[in-house]
Amino acid sequence: MSSKCRPKVIAITSGKGGVGKTNVVANLAVSFAMMGKKVFVLDADLGLGNLDILLGLAPRFTLAHVLNGVKKIDDVIVNGPKGIRILPAASGIQELTHLGTEEKVNLFGQIESLGDSIDIMLIDTAAGISQNVLFFNMVSNEIIVVASPEPTSVIDAYALMKVLHLRHGEKRFKLLVNFAKNKSEGLEVYKNLSMVAGRYLNISIDYLGFIPLDENLPKAVREQKAIVEIFPDSKSAKAFNDMAKVVDDFPPSEPKDNIQFFVGRGAGNSAGMQV
Ligand SMILES: Nc1ncnc2c1ncn2[C@@H]1O[C@H](COP(=O)(O)OP(=O)(O)O)[C@@H](O)[C@H]1O
Ligand SMILES: [Mg+2]
Repeated sequence: MSSKCRPKVIAITSGKGGVGKTNVVANLAVSFAMMGKKVFVLDADLGLGNLDILLGLAPRFTLAHVLNGVKKIDDVIVNGPKGIRILPAASGIQELTHLGTEEKVNLFGQIESLGDSIDIMLIDTAAGISQNVLFFNMVSNEIIVVASPEPTSVIDAYALMKVLHLRHGEKRFKLLVNFAKNKSEGLEVYKNLSMVAGRYLNISIDYLGFIPLDENLPKAVREQKAIVEIFPDSKSAKAFNDMAKVVDDFPPSEPKDNIQFFVGRGAGNSAGMQV
């Protein structure tokens, strides 16, 4: 890699579905782009990817074509709002919900080739604790867990962190509370989660903040636009913009033991990939 810093790779993940991951990814990506960053987004919800739909894009090809060797990554990446680049996922292709080692190695090699042209890579994972979800979290420098204030979502967030810790040695997580009514509801979720995690697991959870419940957000979704673009004065858009600044200020992450995008030097080193 060149003398340039390696790109920051951030996974946005959750235990429970429907907590707002894809909207978080889309809006943080556009916010970063508006801050002048070069942003690449990987839609890693390989069974039910819908980031492209959220942003009104109609890609001809998807990650499936990259993985099966039909297309090179540059032919599949599409341009989104504010110059963000997106590698769309297929929707409804069952084989992809479980990536094989060869496919992972291939993906690593191709993403590595983008290294010099991006500052930040965001990964929109599927929900749950499937092999693929665990994999995309492991290969990221930072893991942002999204939870809503619903107890089911909080419990599932805990379960995901627990599996990532016990099985894969992950120790550091950031928590984003979406759909919070106000600041104290967000903080409450954080306190509960960090208390239980502190008692039963040897992990640290940093609180990234909350995105408020915002009736304008579903409107933006229906318009297939990022809310930071079409309703920049709405409360969630302001929260996304503030959060992008916080994320940008993260100190460089300590290296993890396992292989990571832009750290493992791609396919040449992928033999050590334990997933
Ligand atoms: N802060 C919010 N306020 C109101 N509605 C929201 C908010 N965040 C997400 N939503 C709604 O929740 C739905 C699910 O969000 P999505 O990003 O698709 O979740 P996930 O990717 O976690 O499954 C979206 O259709 C969106 O309209
Ligand atoms: Mg999603």
